[in-house]
Amino acid sequence: MHASLLAPSLLAGDHAQLATSALIAATAGAPWLHLDIMDGHFVPNLTFGPEVPAALRRAGLKTFFDTHLMLSEPQKYIEAFAKAGANLISIHIEPSYDHVATLAQIRALGCQNGIVLNPGTPASAIEHLLGLVDLVLVMTVQPGFGGQPFRTDMLPKLREIDTWRRTRHLNFRLEVDGGIDLARAAECRAAGADTFVAGTSFFRATDKSAYAAAIAQM
Ligand code: DX5
Ligand code: ZN
Repeated sequence: MHASLLAPSLLAGDHAQLATSALIAATAGAPWLHLDIMDGHFVPNLTFGPEVPAALRRAGLKTFFDTHLMLSEPQKYIEAFAKAGANLISIHIEPSYDHVATLAQIRALGCQNGIVLNPGTPASAIEHLLGLVDLVLVMTVQPGFGGQPFRTDMLPKLREIDTWRRTRHLNFRLEVDGGIDLARAAECRAAGADTFVAGTSFFRATDKSAYAAAIAQM
């Protein structure tokens, strides 16, 4: 099993000071930074494009960029995000495009790849892709907005995917995103997750020492 890993989500940071927010996460020891890219079409909200990770790299950020594309046509933007400094690019299963080719394109550009499922999408929808990915992201809220409550009913899905991973001797990371704080992370860890996105809970915490301690322990 992979070591646990925390990925603060920049969506919950200060958008007037994105580099400062990214640095706060890095200073707390977080090895990954989660970047939420929304197109106002696949999800009813907009965030930012590849210029933000590119600018964060220019500002000196060395963190692993975990880039979550919530786009109807992600295949059009892979190259731009890879060039902008993404280390991992994850794409949703729900829209129709060539998932296999897009996952391959992500790796061909030197990034790790990930496949994402919405809460309403069953694990079986991605079963055929498990041997082709570095990460599976199980959404624990409906994507589009930070600050929503964690969906406990996603825990069986985590167990199902974790069981496939073990019985098939696969090695992808299993990530959760939405409504995660340290207690939820522990609950998800017990269900098989190893990678935890934390937006609101991380950036709202005025004292980051609990997170820094938890990250150090991970
Ligand atoms: C939701 C995004 C999440 C979001 C999580 O659409 O994919 O990454 O930032 O935020 P919290 O942790 O506040 O639920
Ligand atoms: Zn996300």
